[in-house]
Amino acid sequence: MNPNILILGAPGAGKGTQSARIADEFDVEHVTTGDALRANKHMETEHGTPASFMDAGELVPDPVVNEIVNAALSEADGYVLDGYPRNLSQAEYLDDITDLDVVLYLDVDEEELVHRLTGRRLDPETGDIYHVEYNPPEDEEVEARLEQRDDDDEETVRERLRVYRENTESVIDHYEETGELVRIDGEQTPDEVWGDIKETVEREA
Ligand code: AP5
Repeated sequence: MNPNILILGAPGAGKGTQSARIADEFDVEHVTTGDALRANKHMETEHGTPASFMDAGELVPDPVVNEIVNAALSEADGYVLDGYPRNLSQAEYLDDITDLDVVLYLDVDEEELVHRLTGRRLDPETGDIYHVEYNPPEDEEVEARLEQRDDDDEETVRERLRVYRENTESVIDHYEETGELVRIDGEQTPDEVWGDIKETVEREA
């Protein structure tokens, strides 16, 4: 059986960057609520469209997100779950539908998060994540097609961080109380962070 891995961290902590490597190395599915919601941004639900929440930096209502996660996890043979749970009620829902082998928490200071998110750029063709300063692409053709995410302007980033503090810090406490949480220093270089993650998953899973 492939491992079930949960990766937690504030917006910009490096969850997407590291999840891509985890999925490759451990042959698991990358389940990300952010990408799933972006792919269905304009879908009408009884709670409104995901876009109406995401573009303001707010959380999409639990029933919409829970359904996406339940469907994705039930089809996966091992996964790295990124972007969920974001509040205690989602964490309790997750406890009911699956068993986790490892819970990773990427710890990064708030001003560094703002700098990372406002400088983030995405390749729409490959989904690869870049940063204008920390990780620019080498190929000029790739550089020319990079895009900025709609919610990566500074005002929305600060609101996302406020929503994170208000809702998601209790999720960190929850997994600390269950004894499952492994803290990783997310301020190291991406390769160093990856080294710590790989070692932790190999040890715990
Ligand atoms: P989502 O897409 O999940 O965004 P997020 O949690 O805000 O996280 P990000 O994707 O912005 O950051 P990341 O940690 O993946 O960082 P990355 O690796 O890209 O959610 C978006 C929205 O969807 C939410 O606001 C909400 O509306 C909705 N939503 C999603 N899930 C939901 C849920 N469960 N419930 C309700 N609503 C939900 O890295 C960032 C940058 O830093 C990159 O440029 C990268 O190159 C750089 N970088 C990465 N690591 C390093 C490093 N070690 N050193 C230097 N630079 C680095």
